[in-house]
Amino acid sequence: PAMAIMAALLGYLSGSIPFGLLFTRWAGLGDVRSIGSGNIGATNVLRTGNKKIAAATLIADAVKGTIPILLMKMVGGESAGLIAGLAAFAGHLFPIWLGFKGGKGVATNIGILFGLYWPLGLIFLAVWLAMAVIFRISSLSALTAAALSPLWAWLLGRPTYVLPLILLAALIWIMHHENIARLLKGQESRIKLGSKS
Ligand code: G3P
Repeated sequence: PAMAIMAALLGYLSGSIPFGLLFTRWAGLGDVRSIGSGNIGATNVLRTGNKKIAAATLIADAVKGTIPILLMKMVGGESAGLIAGLAAFAGHLFPIWLGFKGGKGVATNIGILFGLYWPLGLIFLAVWLAMAVIFRISSLSALTAAALSPLWAWLLGRPTYVLPLILLAALIWIMHHENIARLLKGQESRIKLGSKS
């Protein structure tokens, strides 16, 4: 139990660091929560027009899921790693520092997948990219990749990850309820990699 509590604390603390908010603030881009979707994730940071800060947000929000898993795997084994990953996800979605109003979990989910079993992270990225190339909608790409990841865990012989990944996918879908409503109305915004949007 001490190990589980340590994993949960470490994971939560790491996951709750709002990199999107911090990076945009430091770069003088204002409060990312007041533009676009209002989300603190990389997709919304991209709407500031700054691709580098958006990429940095994506990477940092992912790595904050990976590091606690790898650390806890080393000191506490597989289940401690899994607890750390789930806690990091919870930290990103519900950070105490922002009144429990955090992000939607996509980048952190990618980092968690890499920490648990790296091929799952690669496949998530591949599905996300394929969908993004076809439809150019970030939320749709994420919803598809998240929904499929429990299946890959099963097919790749990691059955213990199936249930946790279903939980993560369900939370991602719930956090995207406004995106889903826009998708159904055909009003979801598209990824713009050109100049300022
Ligand atoms: O990771 C969030 C992404 O899937 C959608 O972001 O800003 O369009 O709500 P956003």
